[in-house]
Amino acid sequence: MAGRAKITVIGGGNVGASCALWAASKELGDIVVIDIPDAEDRVKGKMLDLTQCGPIERFDANITGTSDYGATTGSDVVVITAGIPRKPGMSRDDLIATNVKIVRSVSENVAKHAPDAVVIVVSNPLDAMVYTAWKATGFPTHRIVGQAGCLDVARYRAFIAMELGVSVEDISALLLGGHGDDMVPLPRYTSVHGVPVAQLLSEEKITACVERAKVGGGEIVKLMGTSAYYAPASGVVQMVEAIVKDKKRILPCAAYCESEYGVGGKGAGYFVGVPCVLGASGVERIIEIDLDANEKSLMDQSVSHVKELVEVVRKMSPDLA
Ligand code: NAI
Ligand code: 2OP
Repeated sequence: MAGRAKITVIGGGNVGASCALWAASKELGDIVVIDIPDAEDRVKGKMLDLTQCGPIERFDANITGTSDYGATTGSDVVVITAGIPRKPGMSRDDLIATNVKIVRSVSENVAKHAPDAVVIVVSNPLDAMVYTAWKATGFPTHRIVGQAGCLDVARYRAFIAMELGVSVEDISALLLGGHGDDMVPLPRYTSVHGVPVAQLLSEEKITACVERAKVGGGEIVKLMGTSAYYAPASGVVQMVEAIVKDKKRILPCAAYCESEYGVGGKGAGYFVGVPCVLGASGVERIIEIDLDANEKSLMDQSVSHVKELVEVVRKMSPDLA
């Protein structure tokens, strides 16, 4: 890409506006945030406010809030955060009926106005919304990817670091599966500055960190009455940075798998959380790792849940099947 990258965020609510904030502060490119016409003044105001941080935070970026998709033309990356978040007592799956319609309509606009973009889907239930965006844009699978793993693994790494009293930077971890409470953090592939975590923490403590990460979203919904946004947006921007800087980072993302991890057959794949190489063209490679019998069974359960959610989308919108 010549000159500055162009990053579009659709949905200027809590997650979308926080994505713009992280992306601007890292000076990743020019930013357009799209919301519905009824929310246009609010998103314009938020982006004007963010623009005025530039002289203090020392970033140069054109930052626009609008409801006009014309402003998204030529985007390198489009992040979809449009949709409703969960409230206390709701699961991510409870959002599907509303969000499938929203994600479908915004994806159709993306296909029309930003046909060469890499699309990062954030709206929940994540794994079903990635599928919806894929079908509604008609984009090749490597240019459609979902954000969940970067957030989920960050939560898991944060809990392990808190338990050990060491820097979060020294915790390296891997996670697989869908963005549900049945996600699969992998203690066998978790290390502390290269030392396997099992040498430093008891099995009981590691299990407690895994279990807390699995329900980490719900813990915050209960406290705040709505879902998290700082860490989710930070996870998104980690992916945006890998793409606009062509970093070839290995990040856990919801990527299209067919034979990988035994997810589906040829032409019958699903988007599930796996380690991916992310670069300028999107998902450049999926990395397969060995799983033991227990890990494989947990992954299979998580993938079954993803398949059930996609089935709901297919029933609701048969033309997306
Ligand atoms: P929010 O309610 O603060 O913001 C949503 C925004 O989307 C609102 O500004 C709304 O006006 C806008 N919107 C609705 N329909 C639209 C349309 N057709 N076109 C453009 N904009 C539209 O919600 P929040 O907290 O930002 O969450 C957004 C979504 O992200 C939710 O579905 C939530 O569950 C999901 N989420 C996903 C995470 C993940 O890790 N994958 C983490 C956190 C939230
Ligand atoms: C989260 O995990 C709600 O998916 C969102 O915080």
